[in-house]
Amino acid sequence: MTEHLHDVVLPDNITEELLTSQHIDFIKKYGEEQNKFEYGMTDYLRLSGMYWGLTALELMNAGVTDTQDAIVEYIVKCQDPDSGGISACIDHDPHILHTLSGIQILAMFDKLDAIDIEGVVKYVQKLQQFDGSFSGDKWGEVDTRFSFCAVMILSILNRISAIKVQKAVKFVKSCKNFDGGFGSRPLAESHAGLTYCCVGFLSITKRFDVLDIDNLAWWLCERQNPSGGFNGRPEKLPDVCYSWWVLATLAMLGKLTWIDGAKLQTFIFACQDQETGGFSDRPKDVPDPFHTLFAVAALSLLDYENIQKVNPTYCMPQHVIDRLQLDPKILP
Ligand code: FPP
Ligand code: ZN
Repeated sequence: MTEHLHDVVLPDNITEELLTSQHIDFIKKYGEEQNKFEYGMTDYLRLSGMYWGLTALELMNAGVTDTQDAIVEYIVKCQDPDSGGISACIDHDPHILHTLSGIQILAMFDKLDAIDIEGVVKYVQKLQQFDGSFSGDKWGEVDTRFSFCAVMILSILNRISAIKVQKAVKFVKSCKNFDGGFGSRPLAESHAGLTYCCVGFLSITKRFDVLDIDNLAWWLCERQNPSGGFNGRPEKLPDVCYSWWVLATLAMLGKLTWIDGAKLQTFIFACQDQETGGFSDRPKDVPDPFHTLFAVAALSLLDYENIQKVNPTYCMPQHVIDRLQLDPKILP
């Protein structure tokens, strides 16, 4: 029998209901409090932070309308006219992670035309390395997250043929491990977040033939702890964001029924802050927009009531994916 060394003890008084209006207030306040220390300290995450918050609001049927123009204007200012990439914040260096967040937000608002699309395509194209991998920016860090970002961006822009797709697949394949999972580079240990990235990459490039599906799905199920929460690697504590990384991957593989959805839902609700709104990584920790998005998105995959359907590959509302006519591979 497997011995679980690391898990959390759930509190007794879990509210088994989504406190939607508190979460909406929590996210809206986070964006408004621009004079707070935390806001100043999170410049380097700004655009991704906006994507987390705006997507969570949209999934909870509270998408913004009044601030859309200002947000689009901000993203336009974050695009570097030379490289074409988008940065986290005005005057920062562009990075593929924030380029993706900018594109996801503009796609959600149906405002992709506001930026220089050709510039973005060239930026992503230039980040591809000789072995098919992608670096995150001009400084050269390579990671399978960036392969996923590249194909998400280019598929949203309908320009996937701008990169060498076969070479990109070959690199991702070289990061597959004996357990069916994937790491950040060849020989790196399997990690549920990076496994989500690689399976998402293969969902967009329609190359599930690379996967060892049953082995991988089994490894993913083993991420569920007795508390109901998922961890990202063996012997790590569960964290609510892994509800998304693991569940979305199982959803792409058509294996949502392989885990205990009811127990996961209880764990997710245990991470919700009843006083301030928002979700934290584990019960009683400090909530943040990142964990709030992935908790709400996981509840959407669990078919929780009154949440919009999320697309497991793109982590965007399904109606946006349908409008863009994107068709990632998702097994029934
Ligand atoms: C855990 O990171 C999560 C990952 C490694 C996956 C991140 C995926 C992306 C950035 C791609 C874009 C994603 C979406 C949803 C559009 P961590 O640093 O918290 O890992 P740790 O738990 O091991 O510390
Ligand atoms: Zn987390």
